[in-house]
Formats: sequence, C-alpha cells, structure tokens
Amino acid sequence: MLGRLLEQARIDAVILERKSADYVLGRIRAGVLEWGAVDLLDRAGAGQRMHAEGLVHHGTALTFDGDRLHIDFTGLVGKQVMVYGQTEVTRDLMAIREGTTIYEAEDVQLHDFDRRPWVTYRRDGTTHRIDCDFIAGCDGYHGASRASVPEGSIRTFERVYPFGWLGVLVDKPPVDPELIYAHHQRGFALCSQRSPTRSRYYVQVEAQEQVEAWSDDRFWDELRHRLDPETAERLEIGPSIEKSIAQLRSFVAEPLRFGKLFLAGDAAHIVPPTGAKGLNLAMGDVAILADALIEAVQEGSEAGIDSYSARALARIWKAERFSWWMTSLLHVFPETGAFGRRIQRAEFDYLSGSRVAQQSLAENYVGLP
Ligand code: PHB
Repeated sequence: MLGRLLEQARIDAVILERKSADYVLGRIRAGVLEWGAVDLLDRAGAGQRMHAEGLVHHGTALTFDGDRLHIDFTGLVGKQVMVYGQTEVTRDLMAIREGTTIYEAEDVQLHDFDRRPWVTYRRDGTTHRIDCDFIAGCDGYHGASRASVPEGSIRTFERVYPFGWLGVLVDKPPVDPELIYAHHQRGFALCSQRSPTRSRYYVQVEAQEQVEAWSDDRFWDELRHRLDPETAERLEIGPSIEKSIAQLRSFVAEPLRFGKLFLAGDAAHIVPPTGAKGLNLAMGDVAILADALIEAVQEGSEAGIDSYSARALARIWKAERFSWWMTSLLHVFPETGAFGRRIQRAEFDYLSGSRVAQQSLAENYVGLP
C-alpha cells in the first residue's frame, strides 16, 4: 500500500520482498477491513474487486456459554466493516503496482539510516545496493528493519498469551451471515468467512499445540462443542484447504522513527487477532507515513515525518488496548481460575445490558479515526 501511495505521488519506491510472489499470494491471513482501510484501497485505485466481491458487515455476534449477543455496528455507531481477505487486498495492490518490486531478495541489510541510507540485498547469488532517501521498515515482526536499530534506541512492550489459534479454511458457505466470536469453557472459537462459499474458522488451542495433532474431524468436533447448539447444528463441514496455528501476542516498539528509517505494521507492533486489527493498524501507519513522506519529498517539510511516530503510536496503543480486551473477554485463561471466569461472565452480561458498552465495542471494532 505504501509503495502504491508513493508511486501515485510520483515518488520512486522499490519494494524488497524476501519471498516469491506466489508465496505471498498463497498465504491465508486476516479478513476484516475497517472503513478507513476500504477508503485507502479506493485512494490507491485498487478497490474495484473489493467493492464487487467483499461483504459489508453491519454487525457481529458474541456468544458466552451459548448465550448470544448481537452487536449492531450500524445502529450503534453508524459504521460498517468490509469482509475481504488480506490475501486479496495484496493481490489487488500487486496487480495495480507500476513500480519495482524485487521478490526473493535475501539477506536484506540496512546501512547508514541516520544520514544517507542505503540497503543491500542478495538475489540469484549477487549482492545489490540501493541508495535512497528513506527506508520504510514494513518487513514484519521478524524482519531486518527493527533488528537493525541499536538496542539502546528502542523500547519494546510485550505480552505473550498462553494459547494460540488453530485456523481452518474450507469451501463451504459460512454458518452465519455475520462473524461469531464465541467464549466457551473449552476455549474460544471464531466463525469467520471469506466469501459466500468460503469459510474461515478458528479454535483456541494450547500454546505448544502442533497442527499435525489436529485432523479435520478433531477440529470440527471441537468447533461444534464451542458453538451454541443451534449454530453447531447448521455448521457445514468439509475438507480443510488450509490449516495453521498462530500464537497470540501483543507487542509494541517505540519510537517508530530512527533518522531516515520508519517502522510500520508488524515490524512495529503485533496484536492478537481477536479484534481484527492487525492489517488495519498497518494500513493506518502507512496512511500517515505516505502523507509524511510525500510532504517531505514534495514540499521539503519535515513536519510530517517528525510527528509520524507519535501520531501512529497514539492510534496503535488504542488498538492494542481493544485487542487485549477482546482477547481477555473471550478466551479461557488457565491461570485466572473460577474468579476470572466469573469476571468474564460479568463483562459479557454488562455488555448485553448496556448500549453504552456495546457502543464502545462497536466504535473500536469498526475502527477509530
Ligand atoms: C479472519 O477471518 O481470519 C478473522 C476475522 C476476524 C478476526 C480474526 C480473524 O477477529
């Protein structure tokens, strides 16, 4: 997205990608776009297929031990979300991009980003060098960018949750028109979707769980257990077309600027997937960063790049809070015991009875400004 926004402003930007294009397009990732991300895709000129094929969701369901609560986004805050896979967002941006993307760029190294930055990488056994004005570190949690920053210049904040999500993709219609976030004493479950014929389901699993231990049959049995009986009855199952486990983590690095290097997206922060914020936060970062870089290049003003870190972090921490809160409400935490479960139940009951509480959930879920 950043590469596209910059090229629209006639600023050259080279994208270095460690993997192949096919690998990038084969990865199943998030599924919910805030409207800010929808607008950004439109600004990038890449929103056509999303509007044709994406599903506008006006609300979502939460269940707690089978009791159901509907959160009506439109009625509560007058906004919606778009269900459209991150993989499809990436495909649409790749298709429209005119600038250079170098796939299978190995051993990326950042140099002199305090003053006159340059980047080296290896491809087909040859080392290449790119001299540049700025480096945007959009290379994820394990990428080279954050790792290049001297330890004393960066501070990190982290919470690792004692569980993961096992996800399954299946070519069957979604069990419900809306997403269902389910708290059950056996653990959390989520019914999501990618299209009217393709569904995405998750169950909370133990932190060290191996995906090989989960046959399709075991997954479907566990999911059914965690849903309310009426939903479980309607669930259509089939052979999984993708199955993977993701650990849950909250993480923030501060600041986001180191001279001419800027961190964005997962390079700077991780959220647990419960609030559907990962992709949206990354989009928020690059929306701010693109404008800041355009201002710096076209107007010679550093105001935007000077304030990038503080502006982005203010938004990031609110999404961190919401994602942590949704995770805390909906999962089973082995260490908090019976008291913890009663508090979770009280939180669900409070939500059920309070329009104000529902409004707060909805306001965060559809996305803060
Ligand atoms: C997904 O469809 O993959 C998905 C949806 C909502 C979430 C997390 C993941 O909160």
